[in-house]
Amino acid sequence: MTTSSNNSATALAHTNIALIKYWGKKNADLIIPYTGSLSLTLDQFYTKTQVSFDRQLEQDTLLINEQAVTDKSWQRVHDFLNLVRQQSGITENARVISDNHVPTAAGLASSASAFAALAAAASKASGMDLNERDLSRLARRGSGSACRSIYGGFVEWQRGSDDTDSYAVPIENPNLKDIRIVALTIETHQKPISSRQGMERSVTTSPYYPTWVKVVESDLKEIKSAISQNDFAKFGAISEFNAMRMHALTLSANPDFLYFNGMTLDAMNEVKRLRHAGVECYYTVDAGPNVKVICQTKNVDTIANTFSKILGPEKVTVAKPGPGIKYL
Ligand code: ADP
Ligand code: DP6
Repeated sequence: MTTSSNNSATALAHTNIALIKYWGKKNADLIIPYTGSLSLTLDQFYTKTQVSFDRQLEQDTLLINEQAVTDKSWQRVHDFLNLVRQQSGITENARVISDNHVPTAAGLASSASAFAALAAAASKASGMDLNERDLSRLARRGSGSACRSIYGGFVEWQRGSDDTDSYAVPIENPNLKDIRIVALTIETHQKPISSRQGMERSVTTSPYYPTWVKVVESDLKEIKSAISQNDFAKFGAISEFNAMRMHALTLSANPDFLYFNGMTLDAMNEVKRLRHAGVECYYTVDAGPNVKVICQTKNVDTIANTFSKILGPEKVTVAKPGPGIKYL
């Protein structure tokens, strides 16, 4: 956990897929969620970010995949760096150079790995030496799901009630070690409604939101017991239900919206068909049309081959549980 010069540091964080979704903020400034959530960090998708504080810079600069960024994404990073400056007492502007290692323009959630890597690199470069819990709290302020990418494997974000007690923790001694996620890249365009906007609209307008808060509590309890009992069928079924319950909040919002497209529905039906044919697998879908198929090693080749034939092999990525944050 080293390599920082005095004012520069590089960190690498993997993205995560939520099995029990985070969907709604109780406090939008501090990013305190209404519910806990649970995810799996994935080995195939990651962000590497270098932060250098430099008194010669007139403002913060951001390069993502070698492109200079000056739009809303820059503002989000700048706001986050202000938080780091406030916490560390550093005053210099920063040069941020970031690379997203996800299938090209796949529309896979990148804010989780991006803000976990930024939190680690920026805090280290500013001279703060945060423990993992405080790093998780800091990453949460950039993007809620980022607080879970500090850790590898199965991770729970304990919702807490304020800035001090809302952070992620790894699931101790997890079973289901042979879990695999087959990521299907159905759509490569940026989604029209971001997670941030989508969850806000769901909280404020869906009449079902209070019920979501109740069911997530029991879904979380059940999935943790499935993980400790090595019960894949229960684990997969809860993940699938929970994803559909989240998407029901978009359909019941005003105005309503939907992240699925026709191919999302086709892929979901194919997962069900495989399951009925004895190839056990389940699906989950985040705030976009891409489907992630949850399975075990014994079925991963059959599932990957099936979807490679339908979508083309370049759209199918097999991921394993991935590691937590690393400093380079
Ligand atoms: P959402 O979090 O809205 O579901 P994504 O996870 O795809 O959607 O996050 C996309 C946003 O994350 C981008 O618009 C940008 O603001 C931010 N982001 C993505 N990659 C990086 C990066 N490498 N460095 C800084 N910010 C990033
Ligand atoms: C559907 O973490 O991207 O992926 O906190 O506003 O940055 P912000 O939202 P974000 O939302 C993730 C939503 C989700 C579910 C999840 O990852 O738990």
